[in-house]
Amino acid sequence: MAIEKVYVVGAGLMGSGIAQVAATAGYRVTMRDINDEALAKGMKAIEKSLGKFVEKGKVPEDTAKSALANIKTTTEMKDAADADLVVEAVFENIDLKLDVFGQLEEITGPECLLASNTSAISITSIASATKRPEKVVGVHFFSPVPMMMLCEVIYGQQTTDETVAVVKAWAEDVGKDVVVVHKDVPGFVANRVGLAMSGVAIDLVASGVATPQEIDKTMKLGFAHRMGPCETADLTGIDVLHNAMKAIYNETKDERYWPPVLMQRMVTAGLLGRKTGKGFYDYSSGEQVAYWEL
Ligand SMILES: NC(=O)c1ccc[n+]([C@@H]2O[C@H](COP(=O)([O-])OP(=O)(O)OC[C@H]3O[C@@H](n4cnc5c(N)ncnc54)[C@H](O)[C@@H]3O)[C@@H](O)[C@H]2O)c1
Repeated sequence: MAIEKVYVVGAGLMGSGIAQVAATAGYRVTMRDINDEALAKGMKAIEKSLGKFVEKGKVPEDTAKSALANIKTTTEMKDAADADLVVEAVFENIDLKLDVFGQLEEITGPECLLASNTSAISITSIASATKRPEKVVGVHFFSPVPMMMLCEVIYGQQTTDETVAVVKAWAEDVGKDVVVVHKDVPGFVANRVGLAMSGVAIDLVASGVATPQEIDKTMKLGFAHRMGPCETADLTGIDVLHNAMKAIYNETKDERYWPPVLMQRMVTAGLLGRKTGKGFYDYSSGEQVAYWEL
């Protein structure tokens, strides 16, 4: 089936980014949020990001203009009625996602594909809110969406190969490099691998083996990672990592995902990384400053 019209649910960090890349690739996008303020904020983020791409010569000015013209905004779920593909990017809350997918089941046409950008909720659980689990799929973009190349396309228990093939082709068309995740496992691939590494890195800091800056240097110089695990944790938010690790642990009981005690203490102390000004590094001066000593 051909995808022409895309309905994005949620105009936050991820939803606005997904709307932007789809509209830039020429899709007609309707972006939905619960009120006009959220939609205005999402559109402002898109305009700002497109402006930067134009400034850097990465997107021609007329492409940016037509991208903006390709996006309609709405607070109405019923505007999903003519969508070929829905991408859901609301808060990471299972009850909310089940409610959204239950509504989409009623509103969208039977051929419409339903995708979720969830980080950690099972695609199979989300699909259970619909009568078309074969057409429900994970499409996991990374932040910031217009910059990050990776998109995981994830099978739920009943997702068909055809659904995955269509959504994979669409994600490639909006400029992403796709990894297909063949089983609906907690954390999919990226977070499953990445969080295990974060846990080990934080354990090494806690046990006095090396400082965050030494661990980051090791992974950057030794393995050509662009960022080290402690810098990445600060960027993502220690609380976000903590929740994601706990979610994987709760489902798998795999102790590699039990959040290290140091991580739990940092969450309690509000040392959450960049967003609170301090985590494994200090950002209060506007720069990333190493302060950790053993
Ligand atoms: N932030 C990240 O780095 C990241 C990366 C990958 C995946 N994700 C996932 O993407 C999803 C969205 O995350 P985010 O960071 O964009 O969150 P966000 O808080 O920036 O945005 C969520 C938006 O959803 C809106 N919303 C809530 N209920 C809604 C409804 N019923 N209909 C329409 N809109 C509704 C909110 O008003 C808000 O604007 C989550 O599932 C998250 O786990 C996030």
